[in-house]
Amino acid sequence: MAYRTHKCNELRKSDSNKSVVLSGWVYRKRNLGGLVFIDLRDRYGITQVVFDPSKKPSLNDIFDTIKSEFVIKVEGIVSARPESQINKNFESGEIEVLVENVEILSESKVLPFEIDQEKNISEELRLKYRYLDLRKDKLRNNLILRSNVIKYVRDLFDKEGFLEIETPILIKGTPEGSREYIVPSRLYPGNFYVLPQSPQQLKQLLMVSGFDKYFQMARCFRDEDQRGDRQPEFTQMDLEMSFVEPEDVMKVNEEILIKVVEKFAPDKKILSKPFPVLTFHDAMNRYGSDKPDIRFDMELIELSDIASRSDFNVFKEIVANKGVVKGLKVEGGSIFTRKEISEFEEVAKNHGAKGLSYIIFEDSEIKGSASKYFNEKLISVLKTEFGLKSGDILFLGAGEFESCCNFMGQVRLFAANKLGIIDNNIFAFLWVTDFPMFEKDENTGTLAARHHPFTSPKNDEDLEKDPLAALAKAYDVILNGSEIGGGSVRIHNSNTQKKVFDLLGLTEEDTQRRFGHLLEAFSYGVPPHGGIAWGIDRLIMILANEPNIREVIAFPKDQKARDLMLGSPTPIPEAQLNEANIQVYVDKK
Ligand code: AMO
Repeated sequence: MAYRTHKCNELRKSDSNKSVVLSGWVYRKRNLGGLVFIDLRDRYGITQVVFDPSKKPSLNDIFDTIKSEFVIKVEGIVSARPESQINKNFESGEIEVLVENVEILSESKVLPFEIDQEKNISEELRLKYRYLDLRKDKLRNNLILRSNVIKYVRDLFDKEGFLEIETPILIKGTPEGSREYIVPSRLYPGNFYVLPQSPQQLKQLLMVSGFDKYFQMARCFRDEDQRGDRQPEFTQMDLEMSFVEPEDVMKVNEEILIKVVEKFAPDKKILSKPFPVLTFHDAMNRYGSDKPDIRFDMELIELSDIASRSDFNVFKEIVANKGVVKGLKVEGGSIFTRKEISEFEEVAKNHGAKGLSYIIFEDSEIKGSASKYFNEKLISVLKTEFGLKSGDILFLGAGEFESCCNFMGQVRLFAANKLGIIDNNIFAFLWVTDFPMFEKDENTGTLAARHHPFTSPKNDEDLEKDPLAALAKAYDVILNGSEIGGGSVRIHNSNTQKKVFDLLGLTEEDTQRRFGHLLEAFSYGVPPHGGIAWGIDRLIMILANEPNIREVIAFPKDQKARDLMLGSPTPIPEAQLNEANIQVYVDKK
């Protein structure tokens, strides 16, 4: 007989008296009142099967042998449970299957951890036995969600006329700001392929071919330091369109993101539709981040002017040198203990601050490390201009604009988390636009592209006048303080592209070697084009309400970029190295 006529969690009361066959894993086994109860589990859920030894004594021995996580096949009759025995925890709780026959399909050793318990199992053990961890409801549901979201997104882009086109994985490298993974070529000794950090150049080349609406669920590889929202290998929903301005790309993506949330997180409230649009400068200035979490307000306060009138020399000097002083008002924060305040200082310092000052407002007195530098008049300006009142604390930070905004933004996040004011039922999307084209490497003095070197400036002339002030036709889409996507309108003019390469310090020879193919392609008729890529893992992480993208990836790497299950990376046999023309030299530093 077939392995199964039904899946676990498929049978209902209306199936009563049917003869059925189920196969699955033994989730729980209990002996009760002379009967043996087994919760049989498969991908779809659970059905209880019941064995009565008095009716089938011949099966007694097998049932004695069966243990947790054995794979078994059960034949039996569906029976409606009496009202008192209905289990409301399971969708199949109204029925059980009375066993007529059983077969062990495979045995299981005792598992390194139990499937049905949410104990604190070490991450290492979970990753080593990922295939067992994936038996848990939570991870299984995450992967089901992932599959459903990707299918839904594919269908929506398909409806909008986009073609899904695969691009190669063994390529020449496309710069997205990270180190690349490299693959030796056997046929061309000393030569290497590079794994794509994204399909960036290839999708631009598809535009040259005339595929005006492309998308792809693309695997990307970046050899960068790991964090909770980063993996060395991750998936993008990558997209490119021809004959577009930023607004065209943003519109179609926004519509589809809204549909995705409405379908897969219907209980969440999208804070604002259409999504708010903030320039990079405003986002930094108001929220201290280029990916602001706008589920709560608590905007940074501009204090440069007032601080320069204070007696605090550190602040005065910083403002005189074109720096800024930023404040963060935390209502009710006067109750923070000294120890709690030092936690705020720690956060600021961990993000580049030299220090963090504060003023505590109380009717009886004004206290805090910076209070002595602000005379009565300035304190009253603070009160009237920013509504500071008794019970509040004002944190003050100073420095160069971006760096000061950045650490004050971290202080803002820390405060919000500490006060528990973030509403998890809100999905706060926004676009951040008008990024600077370049940032300066303070050590080398050279310019680097903020997005990537193919991003178009808003005005070509700015590249000549003041490259650091030049703004890009770039946009990021942010959800709850996480950058879930980023893109830009590209340069489609060889001269502008050459100028950008030039500003990035690439010689003519470098440019030809690395990007000659792109520049040549652009000489054969290139449409104006632009696109975006979403971090699919990040989006699903938020939809699944998970704190880490590992939880929505079937076989992720650990924080040190290792695959603990397969045990990679590993050395490879000498013969294989020889074949690939590789000689290994390990720097013992
Ligand atoms: P970008 O580098 O901004 O743009 O990447 C797009 C989005 O991909 C996600 N992402 C990651 N997710 C997990 N792990 C990582 N290591 C990781 N790195 C990035 C983020 C990010 O917003 N080619 C351009 C897109 C374009 O211009 O069209 C690109 O890759 O959510």
